[in-house]
Amino acid sequence: MAKSSETSRLSGRRSRPGARSFYVLVTGGAGFIGSNLVLELQRRWPWAQLTVVDDFRSGTFKNLSEYKGDVCAVDAVHFRATDKYDCVYHLASITDTTVGDQRKMVHDNVEGFRNILGIARKHKARVVYASSAATYGIASTRMSEDSPPAPANAYAFSKMILDNMAEEARKDGMRVDGLRFFNVYGPGEAHKGASASMIYQLAVQMRQERRPRIFKRGEQRRDFVHIDDVVDALIATADRGKNAVYNVGSGRGRSFNAVVRSLNAALGTSFEPDYIDNPYDFYQTFTEADLTRSKRDLGYAPKFELEPGILDYMKRLGWARGRASAEAQTSRTAREV
Ligand SMILES: NC(=O)c1ccc[n+]([C@@H]2O[C@H](COP(=O)([O-])OP(=O)(O)OC[C@H]3O[C@@H](n4cnc5c(N)ncnc54)[C@H](O)[C@@H]3O)[C@@H](O)[C@H]2O)c1
Repeated sequence: MAKSSETSRLSGRRSRPGARSFYVLVTGGAGFIGSNLVLELQRRWPWAQLTVVDDFRSGTFKNLSEYKGDVCAVDAVHFRATDKYDCVYHLASITDTTVGDQRKMVHDNVEGFRNILGIARKHKARVVYASSAATYGIASTRMSEDSPPAPANAYAFSKMILDNMAEEARKDGMRVDGLRFFNVYGPGEAHKGASASMIYQLAVQMRQERRPRIFKRGEQRRDFVHIDDVVDALIATADRGKNAVYNVGSGRGRSFNAVVRSLNAALGTSFEPDYIDNPYDFYQTFTEADLTRSKRDLGYAPKFELEPGILDYMKRLGWARGRASAEAQTSRTAREV
């Protein structure tokens, strides 16, 4: 597969240390996914100049304590670039999907992207932005990128508009790839509170000796994807993205009951779920990513199934007490949903 000009330039940096630096902008870099991305970019692209744009409305400086680059603490809507960026990752977004203020949700998410796209256009930067599986809405079958959008809330609507804007920008000759993340979990999400992954929130409840509260009867299935797989997809997209939108999930929807079983194994507990009524009118009771396109174009190959992913996460939080070994878990649960 032909490498992008950016990648050629990136490779060139290694052998030409005196050459102009490669400038990378990451919006939303103090957030969960953004901070994991910048720390990994710092490791993999040590020659790159990194700038984070984040107004810290939902992110935290604590996620960036090992970061060596620059931070502009401004709203993406108003950011003015002084450096000439080569690569732009746009992850800044209101991420609390229950925010009811449609004007704010759509304004901040869409106008932030419009401004960042304008900067990228001027600099001829390639763009990778965060879309969401929420754009698929309520469905009962595996989601492919060609499935029509069916946004069920203002958050999903704003992401659908980002996808539309990206499509227009491509017609203008820009290089823009979108990633539709499914349910991401992993270190760095604690600041999200009620918007953190269900895996994190249930683990907190169980560590407080409380039964994990899930919606009746726990048979809903979601595609849970480990943060390391998401970061791999983001980095691969800057290199190999083909001007398209890509699903980023594990490729398999897993039940809420399976999440509780897996947490019990990792934490060394044996809680029964506490089933509660679902208060939401619109709720995705099934998500599962079709990964055909992302595997083919990006070489995306998620490393974590649910059980080893949860075990890895609990270990990294220092919470694992489990009898579980990833291998034993995987082989047992391969036979169940
Ligand atoms: N975590 C998931 O499961 C998931 C799923 C689908 C899509 N996404 C998308 O991935 C991206 C990152 O999500 P996350 O989970 O890291 O959430 P997060 O809330 O931890 O990160 C978002 C970051 O963006 C910043 N921000 C928000 N609006 C901003 C603005 N207008 N200007 C500047 N900074 C702003 C926040 O302060 C925060 O640091 C988002 O675009 C989100 O919609 C995440």
